[in-house]
Amino acid sequence: MIRYEFDTPISPAALADLREAVGWNRMERDLADPRLHNAFHLCAIDSDRLVGYVVVVSNGVTDAYIQDLMVHPDKQKQGVGRELMQRTLARLRSEGVYMVSVIYGEAALQRYYEELGFYTMLCGQLELRPERDEAGSEAP
Ligand SMILES: CC(C)(COP(=O)(O)OP(=O)(O)OC[C@H]1O[C@@H](n2cnc3c(N)ncnc32)[C@H](O)[C@@H]1OP(=O)(O)O)[C@@H](O)C(=O)NCCC(=O)NCCS
Repeated sequence: MIRYEFDTPISPAALADLREAVGWNRMERDLADPRLHNAFHLCAIDSDRLVGYVVVVSNGVTDAYIQDLMVHPDKQKQGVGRELMQRTLARLRSEGVYMVSVIYGEAALQRYYEELGFYTMLCGQLELRPERDEAGSEAP
């Protein structure tokens, strides 16, 4: 049975492993950087194993950004991603945050996010630190 826990401490290595499992770069050095400060994160845990994760960057009032939604391939298509998103959106709603954004990452996910209530906008991204210390594609 999968447990959903806000702000459970997660080691950079466990998070990097999950990133790698979904095909992203590990970013382990960044994840261990003490300057890193997110509003909150939500973990999906199955028998003490991290199988799903989503993190929110937020100013707490006007805007929040949902980042790095990921579910381990073993656990995909079982509703874990949707549960992570719904719990995250419920928390942001209860905090009274005005606007929440997410980058779809791939066009195929547009319907997924629209079913969760998002409407689609144009967006731009600029990579300010192009060097990569680990292999893999960048997460949205
Ligand atoms: C996207 C992701 C988080 C969805 O998590 P999940 O737990 O598998 O999703 P759910 O079980 O809640 O929902 C499954 C539905 O998601 C949609 N979906 C998931 N991945 C999809 C993809 N790559 N393309 C199109 N639709 C997708 C489908 O509609 C699917 O429904 P189906 O089972 O009827 O086909 C997961 O596939 C993942 O971690 N992907 C790799 C990382 C990633 O791309 N994250 C999103 C960054 S914006």
